[in-house]
Amino acid sequence: MGCHQNPSPAGHKRGLPGSEYASYDNCPTPLVRSSTARADATDAPERGGRRRHRQPVPAVVNNAETSSIAAPLNSVDLAPTGQHCPRNSLMFEHLDTAPPDAILGLNEAFRNDPNPDKINLSVGVYKDATGKTPVLDCVKAAERRLIEEEDTKGYLAIDGLPQFGQLTQQLLFGAEHELVTSGRTVSLQTPGGTGALRVAADFLRKKLPGATVWCSKPTWVNHPKIFEAADCQVETYDYIDAAGVGLDFEAMLSSLQQIRAGDVVLLHGCCHNPTGIDPTPEQWKKIGEVVRERSLLPLVDFAYQGFGESLDADVRGLHEICGQASEAIVCSSYSKNFGLYSERVGALSLIADEPAAAAAALSHAKVCVRTNYSNPPQHGAAIVATVLADPELRAQWEQELAVMRDRINSMRNRFVEGMRIASPDHDFSFIAAQRGMFSFSGLSPLQVDELRTKHSVYVVTAGGRINVAGITPENIDRLCAAIADVL
Ligand code: LMR
Repeated sequence: MGCHQNPSPAGHKRGLPGSEYASYDNCPTPLVRSSTARADATDAPERGGRRRHRQPVPAVVNNAETSSIAAPLNSVDLAPTGQHCPRNSLMFEHLDTAPPDAILGLNEAFRNDPNPDKINLSVGVYKDATGKTPVLDCVKAAERRLIEEEDTKGYLAIDGLPQFGQLTQQLLFGAEHELVTSGRTVSLQTPGGTGALRVAADFLRKKLPGATVWCSKPTWVNHPKIFEAADCQVETYDYIDAAGVGLDFEAMLSSLQQIRAGDVVLLHGCCHNPTGIDPTPEQWKKIGEVVRERSLLPLVDFAYQGFGESLDADVRGLHEICGQASEAIVCSSYSKNFGLYSERVGALSLIADEPAAAAAALSHAKVCVRTNYSNPPQHGAAIVATVLADPELRAQWEQELAVMRDRINSMRNRFVEGMRIASPDHDFSFIAAQRGMFSFSGLSPLQVDELRTKHSVYVVTAGGRINVAGITPENIDRLCAAIADVL
């Protein structure tokens, strides 16, 4: 292993002259540098009084594997691994700025845009007709109850609130489903669906080393990054057709059939992100058959339950996959369907062939959690559990969810109609058939760029992904005119 820094040209330039390792970036191992080296350096205040080493520090390295005198670890010492490796006294200043996140980076750019007419269709967040991301009434009611009844802020268990896990399984499969009643499914509360994916990635890397994670092409831009961050190998399977408007099911099936047995296939349970294009129930059945026949491990990312057709209809693919495979992983999220984005509420569910195997899998997933964020936060999960466990609040939630879903679908139709008028030569009718928050508009990176720079309209570059949930009656005409202008 190297020093966990990517080689960077800037870092190379700024390294120690004449040194074998021209910079920290090139260092083959982390190192322990003795405190003597720091004491020898000439410190002088620079950059507004901050003290820094004026000269590169000579390489005085304390190698803890060959020396019994280990230097005391302090703010600049790193763990011993056994090789001499000179470096400058400061590390952060050798770092190049990381590129902004492909989705959340746009949000930041949007915030900094002074145009009062700017439109943000980048990050997947629901907005109501007035452009606000509301707190659901059922959530407010649950919070009032929690404030009254909560009597401790003690740590939760590593796997979170037990009731939350059970209620999540019931929402995913139904209370009477064999996967729930048999004990073959175990669930952990996680910080959002992304947290569930990262715990799953760590779990797979440790317990299924060598397996490749296969993502649809295209997929949520963060999917490969999450698995690669856990050191998993990532590949893609075919998904969208050449025209970019529908599923190429033959190509998808054929690429799934070529995946090595034992590998992991990541499927979007409903409301595919970024395309909004889902398989039909018959297609899900065939996908399930291939997953079973090829002995693939399905990982279902299920972040939009209730945003497609309904809570019940949206689980069809999930049931097909988990019904056919003897083992499965489900990463679900309450960010969207409860509007609990900032509370970070999600779940990781592991499905095994028998309850003892599920319990063993849970124990290993808990190790991943403990060594990552220790245990999850309480508030958001307590809200979800309160709502799902109370028939009245649950009914209210289902109603509020239906309002969000219907508004998105009506905006889809208005958008198609708006584009028909603004740009009659271009057919956007395929967008009406897509489901969930997103649409893959097919706008090129250049067009996306022009939309942003000329019209302050923010959409995700890859595929021109549009968050339909951000379109409002107030911004739709401007949006259609801006898109027509860049086509
Ligand atoms: C999205 O795709 O925009 C959402 O899932 C939010 C995110 O974290 O990227």
